[in-house]
Amino acid sequence: MQNIVLTGFMGTGKTVVARELARLLGMKVIDVDTEIEKSTQMSINEIFRQFGEPRFREIETEIIKQVTANKNVIISTGGGAALKQENIDAMRKNGVIVCLTATPETILERTRSNSDRPLLLVENPLERIKELLQFRKPFYEKADIIIDTERKTPLQIAEEIIERRKGYN
Ligand code: S3P
Repeated sequence: MQNIVLTGFMGTGKTVVARELARLLGMKVIDVDTEIEKSTQMSINEIFRQFGEPRFREIETEIIKQVTANKNVIISTGGGAALKQENIDAMRKNGVIVCLTATPETILERTRSNSDRPLLLVENPLERIKELLQFRKPFYEKADIIIDTERKTPLQIAEEIIERRKGYN
């Protein structure tokens, strides 16, 4: 069985959908941000603050290389993981890449309650979300399967992924 790699912007539901998929398929979840935090013993916010985004991206690429060596797991990535071709290639090696999408307004709603996303700690997060989404769109579109999450439950999204991934095994 191939890995299922979840990509997509912050707040598109990668973490909850990964859990739902794990429950339905009996597969293990590996969360890239959690692995980054474990290996550095720092929070994502601290890494950004102390070392900056470029260093975070290097660590992220290293962790993606490691976790994509697994087989038959669900991998939940951070929203910027799809921006490097090297990461995409690693994700595709043993797996199918699924990108979750949502509107800027939904993303704002889902991310506004917590402050653990350094890129959205700005005065006008909605504007920031729109800018980042516009820049990132062509990268997210490299995924094998793209799923709109608007007005769907995590269960519905997980079921849609299971159905659409059939062609990739
Ligand atoms: C980021 C998304 C975050 C985290 C970091 C950078 C991004 O992960 O990796 O804050 O560049 O979109 P989530 O998508 O899980 O929030």
